[in-house]
Amino acid sequence: MSSTISSIRALEILDSRGNPTISVVIELSSGVRASAMVPSGASTGEFEALELRDKDSKRYRGKGVQKAVANVNGVIASALKGKGVADLTALDNLLIEMDGTENKSKLGANAILGVSLAAAHVAAADQGVELFKLLGGESAVTLPVPLVNVINGGAHANNSLDTQEFMLAPHGASSFSEAVRMSAEVFHRLGALLAESGFDTAVGDEGGYAPRLKSTEQAFDFLLKSIEGAGYRPGEDISLALDVASSELVAKEDGQTYYQFVKSGRGKLNSEQLIELYQSWLGKYPIVSIEDGLGENDWSGWKTLTQRLGSKIQLVGDDLFVTNQKFIQRGIEEHVANSVLIKLNQIGSLSETLTAIACAAEAGYTNVISHRSGETSDTTIADLAVATNAGQIKTGSMCRSERIAKYNRLLWIESALGSKAVYKDCFKN
Ligand code: PGA
Ligand code: ZN
Repeated sequence: MSSTISSIRALEILDSRGNPTISVVIELSSGVRASAMVPSGASTGEFEALELRDKDSKRYRGKGVQKAVANVNGVIASALKGKGVADLTALDNLLIEMDGTENKSKLGANAILGVSLAAAHVAAADQGVELFKLLGGESAVTLPVPLVNVINGGAHANNSLDTQEFMLAPHGASSFSEAVRMSAEVFHRLGALLAESGFDTAVGDEGGYAPRLKSTEQAFDFLLKSIEGAGYRPGEDISLALDVASSELVAKEDGQTYYQFVKSGRGKLNSEQLIELYQSWLGKYPIVSIEDGLGENDWSGWKTLTQRLGSKIQLVGDDLFVTNQKFIQRGIEEHVANSVLIKLNQIGSLSETLTAIACAAEAGYTNVISHRSGETSDTTIADLAVATNAGQIKTGSMCRSERIAKYNRLLWIESALGSKAVYKDCFKN
């Protein structure tokens, strides 16, 4: 007889920013147990599923998650006890039905996702297979190109950069482990160059340096110098990727959308001017991907952006799509963006995440599996990237253990796959 759930327990734990998050452990009748931990964003999209926080100002500045924990230990545990874990979609559907809201605001997306992920882990453990195999079967062989966030700005660092993430894309590597080695070498070279020039080398939320540079262009120059200094060819071995996280910069004036570059003092740009700025960067720097180049409600701006740059580079929708099939479908229909950022907690369950990935892939959009700025040592996204052959992952810099945990998990998966492991240059020009 197949195993059934004998207990579900949640606990309020801390994430990498020292804020509460939720951890869930599921035990099966076979005695097998497994756990998962839920991440949390800072530059969250307006249409993300709801992360349930207690709002009790006497605890953790209102950020406690005891209500979400109680939902798991109470109603969810009672409803799922005795259920099998072989059909993960059925379990997720049950959770979604129990919640009954559009944005998971009753039980909390953090509560639901914690259970959804722990169920996947315990199902894999029960069958004695690796999670990526359980989810992806024998065709799960592609190691992702990592987008390695080595300079942090925006909402992730207290510095002068408006652009949230400056990433290395080591697409010219011969394997995932080579990509990790190259990125770590460039990361250290960058640290040395910044220090030599008198800049701070303390790191931001995702482990990238957070120097008080004068401008985005100065950040690009440092990146190119560090790629070359480490012995690699910019644009061939390693290119650049950006997350502008521009929903954070939106300011409305007379019904018009503007982007306020407050931290750097660049001033105010409209969509058209911002697209022109991107075009000028593409002429000077080897940029292969721009995420959230425009705001989550600026669909007309996004259309223009896609018309102008969509055939040249990857345009990733993060806040724009919030891992939600409904928004992705709209993007496909309106020819907006050509890539989707995938964050499990934006939608709040594993099966809906898999649906979002499949929907994007079917339309020829790329998928970039992503961490959040508030993370834990949970490594589910590493398995998810391989399971879906997504081809790309965003999981931070080459330091901070909550980021490195995902790289290390991918190194083990690569090793386990042996000669079957595939590493594809998704930005070949
Ligand atoms: P977040 O940032 O986790 O703070 O939302 C990550 C991103 O914008 O990609
Ligand atoms: Zn983003």
